[in-house]
Amino acid sequence: MLKIINVVGARPNFMKVAPIVEAMTRREREFSPLVVHTGQHYDATMSDAFFHDLELPQPDVYLGVGSASHAAQTAAVMASFEPVVVREKPDWVLVVGDVNSTLACALVCAKLGVKVAHVEAGLRSRDRAMPEEINRVLTDQIADLLFTPSEDADQNLANEGIPSERIRFVGNVMIDSLLKYLPLADKSTTKEDLGLRGKDYAVLTLHRPANVDDRQTLTRILEALEEIGRRISIVFPVHPRTLKMIAELGLRDRITNTPGLRLIDPLGYLDFLSLYSSARLVLTDSGGIQEETTVLGIPCLTLRENTERPITVSMGTNQIVGRDPEKIIAAALTALSETSKKPVSIPLWDGHTAERIVDAL
Ligand code: UD1
Repeated sequence: MLKIINVVGARPNFMKVAPIVEAMTRREREFSPLVVHTGQHYDATMSDAFFHDLELPQPDVYLGVGSASHAAQTAAVMASFEPVVVREKPDWVLVVGDVNSTLACALVCAKLGVKVAHVEAGLRSRDRAMPEEINRVLTDQIADLLFTPSEDADQNLANEGIPSERIRFVGNVMIDSLLKYLPLADKSTTKEDLGLRGKDYAVLTLHRPANVDDRQTLTRILEALEEIGRRISIVFPVHPRTLKMIAELGLRDRITNTPGLRLIDPLGYLDFLSLYSSARLVLTDSGGIQEETTVLGIPCLTLRENTERPITVSMGTNQIVGRDPEKIIAAALTALSETSKKPVSIPLWDGHTAERIVDAL
């Protein structure tokens, strides 16, 4: 019987851990899974809603770390996670993605000599100004087993000198959740509630510090949205960080008065899936949404200068458009002029990644 601590911390972790915990729970003779929530995200809309929608068992341990600077948050996760590992003596600790909680928990285990598995290993934007890139590079260096979503990730790890015995190409576990919950998302009333059923609309998400913490950058993005909003209404579930920055940067009036741009509260997993899966166009700076739109064949414009998920560009529907308003507008108009959806099939993004992870463990 393997005792596994599964770590979740922030919103993009929940849909990756849920299918893995479910697969472990199904194999109850082989696995004893625990869920530890660091509390990096704590608002009901950023955390609780996902436990509910994804049928993730309530955490066995909640560390309640909350928001702080990078150093303070990472250190607080480490200090509160260490006694849990010492007490529970797991065979493995499983971390996912690239948030501060991922690195903090991996580092605790590396120091204690407890084995760590990293899910979504090997992705690289090659942009070290992104906090997530630091988290990815360091977590992959210290993890014992690296589960990759695509073959470019295997190559990145090999280039960094990581031996192939530590690497397993298993596919994209987030797509397990997407494929499982897509039929259920149909029951969401979000589109009716917003008066969007049967209408053309775009969806926007924005939360990267590089986009929302700088007034000039955010203003340039806003210029593009003002133009695109004339052609199609844009629904914008606003991340708490972005909401705070819009107010601090004095852009609240301009943003709320932009015709065609509709700000709403963050949505749970099923409501958001229901919203973007029917959108004509998605504009985002998220990582996961680039992958989800690829699988569903929805045009995605990534408002960043790079991506750690190049397969969504080479094989999928994603375009890296940066922050230049002219470029964003031109790409949006082109995408809106195309009518047919182009769902894409990417190797091992097939809904069975969690089983492959559990088999490997
Ligand atoms: C974090 C991750 C990022 C991920 C994103 C998804 C890191 C370095 N960043 O960014 O990779 O894409 O989550 O959402 O780990 N806040 C709330 N309520 C919450 C959580 C946060 O109001 O439940 C606000 C706080 O003001 C906080 C700010 O959002 O200071 C930023 O939160 P934080 O977890 O530091 O980073 P995110 O921007 O959410």
